[in-house]
Amino acid sequence: MACGQLLPKWEGRCPACGAWNSVEAVSPVDVLATMQAKGESPSPISLEAASGGPREKVATGFAEADRVLGGGLVPGSLLLLGGDPGVGKSTLALQIGQGVFRATGRPVLYCSGEESPAQLADRAQRVGCDIASLMVLDSADIDAITATLVEKKPPLAIVDSVQTARAPMAVGVPGSPAQIREAIATLLPAAKKSGVPILLIAHVTKDGAIAGPRTLEHMVDVVLYFEGERHGELRLLRGVKNRFGSTGELGVFRMSGSGIEEVEASGKVFFDEGSIRSSGSALTVVREGRRPLVVEVQALTVKSPFGLPRRTTQGFEANRLHLLLAVLERRAGVRLSDLDAYVNVVGGMRLADPGSDLAVALALVSALRDITLAPRLVVLGEVGLGGEVRRVPELRSRLAEAANLGMEFAIIPEIQKGEAGSIMPVIGVTSVTAAVTVMAEPGAFRSG
Ligand code: TYD
Ligand code: MG
Repeated sequence: MACGQLLPKWEGRCPACGAWNSVEAVSPVDVLATMQAKGESPSPISLEAASGGPREKVATGFAEADRVLGGGLVPGSLLLLGGDPGVGKSTLALQIGQGVFRATGRPVLYCSGEESPAQLADRAQRVGCDIASLMVLDSADIDAITATLVEKKPPLAIVDSVQTARAPMAVGVPGSPAQIREAIATLLPAAKKSGVPILLIAHVTKDGAIAGPRTLEHMVDVVLYFEGERHGELRLLRGVKNRFGSTGELGVFRMSGSGIEEVEASGKVFFDEGSIRSSGSALTVVREGRRPLVVEVQALTVKSPFGLPRRTTQGFEANRLHLLLAVLERRAGVRLSDLDAYVNVVGGMRLADPGSDLAVALALVSALRDITLAPRLVVLGEVGLGGEVRRVPELRSRLAEAANLGMEFAIIPEIQKGEAGSIMPVIGVTSVTAAVTVMAEPGAFRSG
């Protein structure tokens, strides 16, 4: 179950991933046979016949979700929407259903194994959904779902959730790997045959993988994750797999008392305008798919009370913090080895873009020396082991977004100075050392 390995007999410990008590004996031949039994016997067709003309994508009503999807919902596709329990998957699905109803004029099918129709109606009212936008199927039975799908041909079917779906053909209780596999093996051809896109909701486990076999992700067309801190209002929709568009796109949403709203293209959600003036804070621009986002990084250093300094990060990879600390110490002569260091990314954002390295490094130095960075400054650059500052892709679009949000200066890699044009005044740096020097110069960032 942990890794999705199929084994012909039960074993106490999975030989593939080493997880105890997670193996379920399923013959791969059986799985193949059931999958084939669901489809019709195959015969080859020409690519020309297969291309069949343009397939209209259906808009979800959220520009942010459409971009992550690569333009909208593709007819006949199977999509997986994963996320922690309580993050807002059902709410998002409901509102997408509303959007699809508005776009097509036809009601969406919501199959609920988690909540009763009355609970769904309550929620629909709370988020201001048109009651007519939804047909509710109060069943988790996969065969009932596919039958309804084929008969009603809704513009979208939502299955909430894959963990409660019941596949009568398979062994095990709902939520078990065999059940989930069978559910998907049934839904996949049903989606293809009926042309109805199916949005499958899935809870994720703590380690971030969708509960049940990892093979799940390989079977579906699109995998989306809905993320966010439970107590924060920000929610991110991340595309991690997409057969119809690019992956790595990020949609930004906000959870309010009346449902989910999208955060328009230029949002000041990842930085706090009040705190920018305190030391230990730096702004950078990351690329998430095609969307540049201005993000605030906060650092704190404090004398380590014990011999072994603590390094704690939130939203930033701990290994990269270790690397930056080592580079600062060895290449820029900034002594940090006996200090605790904390790095936090504002707004629940995870920084995977190496273009944010230099900003993190300067935030650390800013915290250590209690020097405040210029208020409307963004810092861009990847940091190499030699302390050199490397180029970042898409510099211009990052600077343009920063300018949009009122930023006035940028520290960028020296070799990219030519690319910056007249978007905003920039200071080029070749090394971390140069950046550390320039950040403390009071006259460096003055308008005009
Ligand atoms: P839900 O969509 O049920 O999450 P999931 O399906 O991922 O488990 O939403 C969970 C939380 O969202 C719930 O605790 C209350 C909150 N919420 C709001 O803040 N505003 C709203 O309009 C709604 C419907 C829910
Ligand atoms: Mg739910």
